[in-house]
Amino acid sequence: MCGIVGYIGQKKRINFLLEPLKRLEYRGYDSCGVAFRLNGNSKKIFLKKEKGKINKLKDNLSPERNFEIGIAHTRWATHGAPTKINAHPHFGCKKEIFLVHNGIIENYKEIKDLLLKRGHKFISQTDTEVIAHLVEEFAGKGSILNALHQTVNKLKGSFAILMFSSREEKIYLARKESPLIAGILKDGFLVASDTSALCGFTKKIVTLRDKEIGVISKNDLCIYNFNLRKIKFQVEQVKIDAQEMDKKGFAYFMLKEIFEQPGVLKNLFSYYVRAGKIEFKELNLKREYLASLNKIFIFACGTAFHAGLVCKYFLEKYARINVEIDVSSEARYRDIFIKKNDLVVAISQSGETADTLASVKEAKRKGAKILGICNVLGSRLTKEADAFIHTLAGPEIGVASTKAYTAQIYSLFLFSLYLARLRKTLKPKVEKTILEELKNIGNYQEAILKQADAVRRIAKKFSKFGCFLFLGRGINYPSALEGALKLKEISYIPAEGYAAGEMKHGPIALIDEYRAVVCIALEGVLYEKVVSNIQEIKARKGKVLGVLSRGDKEASLLTDEKIYLPRLKNHDLTPLLVAIPLQLFAYYVAKNLGCEIDQPRNLAKSVTVE
Ligand code: M6R
Repeated sequence: MCGIVGYIGQKKRINFLLEPLKRLEYRGYDSCGVAFRLNGNSKKIFLKKEKGKINKLKDNLSPERNFEIGIAHTRWATHGAPTKINAHPHFGCKKEIFLVHNGIIENYKEIKDLLLKRGHKFISQTDTEVIAHLVEEFAGKGSILNALHQTVNKLKGSFAILMFSSREEKIYLARKESPLIAGILKDGFLVASDTSALCGFTKKIVTLRDKEIGVISKNDLCIYNFNLRKIKFQVEQVKIDAQEMDKKGFAYFMLKEIFEQPGVLKNLFSYYVRAGKIEFKELNLKREYLASLNKIFIFACGTAFHAGLVCKYFLEKYARINVEIDVSSEARYRDIFIKKNDLVVAISQSGETADTLASVKEAKRKGAKILGICNVLGSRLTKEADAFIHTLAGPEIGVASTKAYTAQIYSLFLFSLYLARLRKTLKPKVEKTILEELKNIGNYQEAILKQADAVRRIAKKFSKFGCFLFLGRGINYPSALEGALKLKEISYIPAEGYAAGEMKHGPIALIDEYRAVVCIALEGVLYEKVVSNIQEIKARKGKVLGVLSRGDKEASLLTDEKIYLPRLKNHDLTPLLVAIPLQLFAYYVAKNLGCEIDQPRNLAKSVTVE
């Protein structure tokens, strides 16, 4: 994971490097560092590292410091603990080569052993340090570009590298799998792990493609492939608005993103539904192909996997198609029986999740077509997939995914209905009714958000519990999984999501007066069965928070606290509502416990390593 930034150009204050770096903190935040060439003294390199977040680094750097070439890094530790020594930038023995890296070098031990024999001395436990020494070894007194070229061809694993040498006024970049984007400024170049870091600095970007090397001087950018053949590149326009990267008065990005959901869903509706008809104009998959599909596979991780689970129910019911779903980290290694032309739906907010990309690669090898459901234009998933649906949620900064989740579900609901029409599995009248309700989901979400204060009060009471069970059934079973994931990732309270019908097969053993259970018991489908589960929990003194239908008369009598949701005509759309109180609940519990909401410990937003 990790975020990297580099700059070359006219004189700038050090903040110019730290500001974009802060935007990448979602990728990792256990340690950080910078290296830059001081003005007027090309040989002198300034290096500073800290354990902890970028603000700490900022506090220990004089803001007046100027530089013309610099690199910076925010780390999510893989090899070696999050210490000052292991923080990047790393350097070679001669302290000429300085570099930052995002990714994992799988053969670093082998390279390190060779370099040790050649007399190199290592000071960190990282895999990254070998890259700096290897470049130094190959470079000798010769060309840095040649040395980098030889180095990247020796490395196994994934990497985005930013590097400079005290000998030259240049920045070098290289990537294999991990992302790297160069922003073109009026007076130089700003390079970063993703476009969000470049927002507000430039609108012109060049995305380095896989296995490319870049060389940037103050006014020129050259790109080579890994055979050192110079190649043409395209300058693209950034579409993200810098204002979207702001908290807009909310205490945390997570809270802001929870509140953005109604707007996101309304926008998705107006983008994909024209004159009452779902249209995926940019979908690069033939209608005949979609109509004749036999099977769909869904691959995703974490929250995106839960969105996929919800959509499995929906796709099977309305498009009458067999759907298999797997977490990408399993799918990539399981010899899944995928046939040529089967469709793989890969869901990913970032479009950079290593396991999802690897599962896609494997499916492509077997001849499948790939449909990416993705929130980030230009991400690797959008480039690897045969077609993609943009979830249009806008930048999601909070590590805990919220608006991306409901946007994924909504987009896939629309896709399922589109598929159902092509396959003639749904009466137009029924499609129309579902669409009408989907159109209004944003308004229903707004009504739920008005209860945020009530959820805050309930969360306060429930913050004392040391263990949570989330129960749901049918299409809200994935909602229970997602509710538990949200709570555990930001509050660190152990939480389990379960299909309510499974309770008697194990989890009921947990129940006593010290455990809390969140029950999704909406009227309509399997309601009575969940009510029985609540009875069973109460008989064992468990505390119950019910997520109930407005006007509920039965479950409300049993539950200790309740959150009421508007009633929908179609129960299958309720996951889009249930998500809101569960996200708010997790948020307020975590806030009560004084947790770091946007940047929970040990996590990173984009999991770009395996
Ligand atoms: O970018 P992706 O959607 O591929 O990310 C997948 C998961 O890493 C992500 O959903 C993770 O589980 C979130 N932290 C959940 O809130």
